[in-house]
Amino acid sequence: MRKIKACIFDLDGVIVDTAKYHYLAWKRLAQELGFDFTEEQNEALKGVSRTKSLEILLQIGGINICDEEKEKLAEKKNNWYVEYIKNMVPSEILKGAKEFLYELRKNNIKIALGSASKNSMLILNKLELVDCFDAIIDGNKVKNAKPDPEVFLLGAKQLGIPNNECVVFEDSKAGIEAALCGGMLAVGIGDKRVLDKANLVISSLSEMSMDKLQLLK
Ligand code: BG6
Ligand code: MG
Repeated sequence: MRKIKACIFDLDGVIVDTAKYHYLAWKRLAQELGFDFTEEQNEALKGVSRTKSLEILLQIGGINICDEEKEKLAEKKNNWYVEYIKNMVPSEILKGAKEFLYELRKNNIKIALGSASKNSMLILNKLELVDCFDAIIDGNKVKNAKPDPEVFLLGAKQLGIPNNECVVFEDSKAGIEAALCGGMLAVGIGDKRVLDKANLVISSLSEMSMDKLQLLK
């Protein structure tokens, strides 16, 4: 049986529920552009990069614009999003996340962040979690978005742990695919029907333990 030596965590939807803030900002942009954007439609943006998210939103609104305009809109959305997350507090950390991070640390398991968000550092600072990670790989450090495994491969490399001794924790389908494609084990946080490829699906990190981690296959 392989021994797990590292865990790599997605941020949005795994450590903290930032999806609601992303949604508020995208909805505000949609309304400014003259159409509505529902919470259901927002599901398609989870785990997806900022640029790709904007493209999906514009498609929903039937809007065609040049790249320069797109860049301005993405920046506008991000400024609103940053305004919202600036007020985040440590009590917004999702159930069980901090406890599991501490348990891993106590058991000498290496810990990395593997997130698409370019705002990861701001969020980790607000949540006072920066020191929990041995490596932080975010959207500023990678070229290819999930389901490409780049973000996780870079995390494993920075930790100095072989890919097949790493477990990835993810709430998005694209993230699970990325982890498996990188030769890692994947734990899904959320709906079993959506995250059906994961090696294990749980509803929050409060369900995780060292024993469960080492029994994964
Ligand atoms: C992912 C989120 O973690 O980061 C997506 O799930 C988001 O919804 C993406 O679009 C990029 O985030 P940011 O903060 O760089 O716009
Ligand atoms: Mg996520």
